[in-house]
Parts: sequence; C-alpha cells; structure tokens
Amino acid sequence: MTESHNPSLTALLAPLETALGSRFEKEPIWAAAAPGRVNIIGDHTDYSEGLALPMGIDLYTLMVAAPRDDGPQAIRVFSAEEGEAELSLRGSESRRGDWTDYLDGVLALYQELGAAVPPFDLVIGGDLPLGAGLSSSASLELCFAALIERITGHALPPLDRALLCQRAEHDYAGVPCGILDQFAVSFAKEHIAMLLDCRDQSVTEVRLPDDVRVAIVDSGVRHALGDGGYAERRAQVETAQNSLGKSLRDSGLEELTLIPDNRVRQRAQHVISENSRVTAFVEALSANDEVTAGQLMYESHRSLSRDFAVSCIELDTLVTAAQNAGALGARMTGGGFGGSMVAFVDRAKTVAFEKALTAEFRTAGFTEPTIRWVTAAAGARSWTLT
Ligand code: GLA
Repeated sequence: MTESHNPSLTALLAPLETALGSRFEKEPIWAAAAPGRVNIIGDHTDYSEGLALPMGIDLYTLMVAAPRDDGPQAIRVFSAEEGEAELSLRGSESRRGDWTDYLDGVLALYQELGAAVPPFDLVIGGDLPLGAGLSSSASLELCFAALIERITGHALPPLDRALLCQRAEHDYAGVPCGILDQFAVSFAKEHIAMLLDCRDQSVTEVRLPDDVRVAIVDSGVRHALGDGGYAERRAQVETAQNSLGKSLRDSGLEELTLIPDNRVRQRAQHVISENSRVTAFVEALSANDEVTAGQLMYESHRSLSRDFAVSCIELDTLVTAAQNAGALGARMTGGGFGGSMVAFVDRAKTVAFEKALTAEFRTAGFTEPTIRWVTAAAGARSWTLT
C-alpha cells in the first residue's frame, strides 16, 4: 500500500480546528507543527559521542490551541488518536505511563525556566504514524515546546529546545534516549539531511541527491524503546567504553580485542564501524557516488542486525526485498526492534521498486507493507492564526 501523505499543512490542520470548535467551542489562536525524522545512516551511535545523518520528514505532529478561561489551572488536551487528558499547570507528581508524560515533562521544564504558561485548550493530530520508528515522541515534544514558546514568548535556541525535550523524555517518560531524535526534529530543514556530531553537538547540512527518492517502509512491528532492549544496548556500549578506557568515537576496530566479552565486542564493532560508514556516506554523496552510498546503507543494516542485534525478521526481509527490488541502499532506521526501513531509490525506478518489494514481502508470508515516499522537511515551528 502506498500512502499519499502530502496534503498541505493547512489541509492537515483543518480537522484539528474543527475538533477545537466541537470539543471546546473555541476558534484556534495558535498552531504548531513538528516533522518526524528518518535516520539515513548512523544508528546507535548518538549515545557514545558518534555520528548520525537524519533528516526531517514531511509527516507531522500538529497542534492547535486557544486560551481557556473557565477557571481550572490546567491544559485540556484532545488527540483523535490518543484520547483526552488534562495537564495541571501546578505540576503532577505521578506519571501516567502514556503519551501525556511527554507533554507533562516539556511543560514542567519550561515552567522551571520561568515560562508563565496560562491555561489553554489543545487539540493534537497530524499524519505521523506512532511507534513506527519515525520519532513520534520527539516530534510530540518539540511540537509542544514550539507551541509553549509561542504562547509564552519564552523562546529557546534550537539546541536548548532539543536538550530540554530530551530531558523530558528521560525524566518524565523514562526513556533513556540519545540526542538524535530531538536534534533532528529541532534542526531539520527542507531539502537537506543533517550530519550530527553528537560529541560537540554540531549540525552540518548535507545536500541530498536530486535523482534519488527516499522511501520509508513500515515493517508493521511496533517497538517501545522503554522496553529493555534499548537500555541494555546502552549499557553494553558503556561496558565496551570502560574496557577500552575511552569513547568508542576515539577507538579503532583493531582495539576490539581488548574487550573480553564476545557480545560486548560485537556491539562495539557495530558502533565503531557505523561511525566510519557515516563519514564515508557523506563523502560518497558529495562525490555524487550514490552507488557507494547505497552499499554503505546495506552494510549498516547488516551490522545493526548481526552485531548490534536490534533488527527483526520483518526488517531483515524488507531490506533483502528492497535490494532485490533495485534500491540503491536500504536499512532499518532508528532504535530498531521493529519500526521502519529507509531506502534510497532511483527516481526513475520507484514504481518497479514498490511492486517488487510488495510482492517479495508478501511471498515471504508477511502482510502488505506500507510504503511512504518522503521529502526533507523543516523542523518544529509555531505561528499565530489570524
Ligand atoms: C532511538 C533513540 C535515539 C537513537 C536511536 C538509534 O531513536 O531515541 O536517541 O539512539 O534510537 O540510533
């Protein structure tokens, strides 16, 4: 199934505006949008000072809001996908263990900085699929951050905003994520990917080739980073760094023998080689060598699957099918344990790619995959509706 998802933001906002009217009898005053992200290469490198190459995608979290003046010091929230909730402006001691924890976290951290957040009514929607490995949580956080900044006038630079949202995710949602997702959603720009250096927290723009299209294919397997696998990988990377006495960013493959534990050594092998692949990928793109860039994506997938062990049978099958269907490159993207594959496909071969990929995935016994063609989109932003 190919999903068409390119309606304008205005069209995507319309149902949210209607919901604000029917739920809360309000006309929208403020709006915010944040893209999802896809990581083109460089996964599980961000929490050891490594390199990654994400881009924002034109699938969005959207919010519309209006002031609330019926008394309670709270934000009323409605999300068609997730339901209703109320966020107290006086802070909440307990975590609900759901999507509202991300919002509570962002709200509390802005208040800590001195932002005077008034009560308001909020509707959340958009077309970014949840739990598909496209950073729906970072997108939710950054969208809410942009909205709060609009409402309060308490504006932060993109770096501080990203770090605040990462803290909300750690401290309120209990997910020990790295910085990749929040950086990508905060700094994203149209037409470009971003080389993130997670050591000095710098972002370098990287032009994407014109003759390549980016496909995101949902494996249908839902992941939750709060589950043990992600934290376990982080701990293994930490153990590897302790054995080597330095960051994996500064380590070479020849040093791997210093790591006694087999499994930990494999994890380190992935991280060290993935950092080199990101550098080689950026060089290949600047030399217009898309074939080499694509090969590096396949190698990255093999490394994530075999050495880092965060893939699954559905993702492995999709990547093999993508290769057979003529993609220049393909790999799982994001945290793994399900989620999506990203593929680089020659612009002239997209129809053949879709057909062949779908047929092979089905023959392997899986349901029809959802294929989304995305373009690089701008990062989180907000505006006032007139
Ligand atoms: C998740 C985390 C990121 C990063 C990726 C893997 O998306 O939130 O910080 O670690 O996994 O690259």
